[in-house]
Amino acid sequence: MTPAAAWCAQHRLRFLLPSLFLAPVLFFLLSPPSSPPFVSLPASGELPPLSSRLIWAQRWLVEWRPCGWWRTAPLQAPSRRNGYIRIDCYGGLNQLRRDLCDGIGVARLLNATMVLPKFEVAAYWNESSGFADVFDVDYFIEQTRGYVEVVKDLPAEIASREPFKVDCSKRKGHFDYVETVLPALLEHQYISLTPAMNQRRDRNPAYAKASYCQGCYSALRLNKNVESKAVELLQAIPKPFLSLHLRFEPDMVAYSRCSYTGLSSKSMDSIEAARREGRKVLTGDAARLWRNRGKCPLTPSETAFILQALGIPTNTNIYLAAGDGLMELEGFTSVYKNTYTKSSLLTHEAFENMHGNTKAALDYYVSVNSDAYVATFFGNMDKMVTAMRTMQGLQRTLVLSRRAFANYTAAGLAGQQLAKAMWDAHREEYVRGRGSALPEYCFCEFKL
Ligand SMILES: *[C@@H]1O[C@H](CO)[C@@H](O)[C@H](O)[C@H]1NC(C)=O
Ligand SMILES: *[C@@H]1O[C@H](CO)[C@@H](O)[C@H](O)[C@H]1NC(C)=O
Ligand SMILES: *[C@@H]1O[C@H](CO)[C@@H](O)[C@H](O)[C@H]1NC(C)=O
Repeated sequence: MTPAAAWCAQHRLRFLLPSLFLAPVLFFLLSPPSSPPFVSLPASGELPPLSSRLIWAQRWLVEWRPCGWWRTAPLQAPSRRNGYIRIDCYGGLNQLRRDLCDGIGVARLLNATMVLPKFEVAAYWNESSGFADVFDVDYFIEQTRGYVEVVKDLPAEIASREPFKVDCSKRKGHFDYVETVLPALLEHQYISLTPAMNQRRDRNPAYAKASYCQGCYSALRLNKNVESKAVELLQAIPKPFLSLHLRFEPDMVAYSRCSYTGLSSKSMDSIEAARREGRKVLTGDAARLWRNRGKCPLTPSETAFILQALGIPTNTNIYLAAGDGLMELEGFTSVYKNTYTKSSLLTHEAFENMHGNTKAALDYYVSVNSDAYVATFFGNMDKMVTAMRTMQGLQRTLVLSRRAFANYTAAGLAGQQLAKAMWDAHREEYVRGRGSALPEYCFCEFKL
């Protein structure tokens, strides 16, 4: 075991053991009166004193864990082999991963044999990075055995041709992969498939669902090369630490169509420059409704405010799992001064030469192995990180509620009152295991 891994294992135990033994006792002692849903205004009252106000010290009432049903291969074997599928994935690392996960489920649904997926990386990253450049191929094949068949090489008679392209990425609504894709697979025997973005997977038969869960949550691990870089970074971060996925980049703010006051003119200019046609800033009632639906990214200073409301001490070591384009970062670092970034921890040379996918992989790895993880958004990375933390039984995971923040701010709350409302809202989400909003059927709720 590497020192970092050893450190993690040891500290994880330290955090886990007390909760395991004390949970039943504390449940009765601390079981809160059923609190109102966060949309109602908080009862007047003070914030609990700092000593009892640490979000992580709150006991969970329910816990999410991987369900038992998909963890035991072998499943029902395919009744026949219908051909070969290559999953083609586009975008950033976490989007690649999401599409790959879907593709694994589809391959098994169609009783197809998978060849290694193809990762087409977005042009702005200026790199080409295949599956094997990020993930451990042999581990993937070994872990999916009994779920879906994966081969490194195609049979000679097929290897010489290009696969027939089936692009489902633009498909809307529910459609049936068997109906839509199987005929092409049977005809061509080798297809490349881009999965649909928002397909519901819960209607698939159990063997396809199980393959999805196993492929996504038990079969993907970074390859040795990327992992060793990640371990190096993990070792450089002062312990214990909280990994914060902060999202406040010009393009995402422009895309959100939200307006902000009090940003620097430099930030305003960057947001304007990133604005695309058809995504004008919302105004009036539309803007209010949008904001109250939780659509507006939290600014770094709003994030610092909420973390403080959750009792997270301002001297906490914070690793910023984020890209380089964050705006208004001083709003956060002026409060949480022990904040670290990749560029501050890696040598200049190592950092400059690193590909976008590698940087994303480092953030992913560090976030899965941190003492606590907080996200200000629930994007692809956050979905993967929270799910992987759940796989490992790591409880200190929370997605901040933009909706609660917008709602209470709109109601005129500020200062201590707002902090109290934020505390109540997040505590409620956290103890009910909703703070990490786990997706789909791979995870099951256990009452504690
Ligand atoms: C795939 O195999 C299963 C048995 O594991 C069978 O029930 C199903 O009909 C097959 N589907 C296709 C599309 O071949
Ligand atoms: C893309 O990569 C090439 C070669 O590695 C390099 O010369 C070029 O400056 C890069 N472009 C950007 C925009 O980073
Ligand atoms: C808070 O949200 C709820 C629904 O989500 C809405 O009915 C209520 O009006 C909102 N409150 C404020 C102050 O915006």
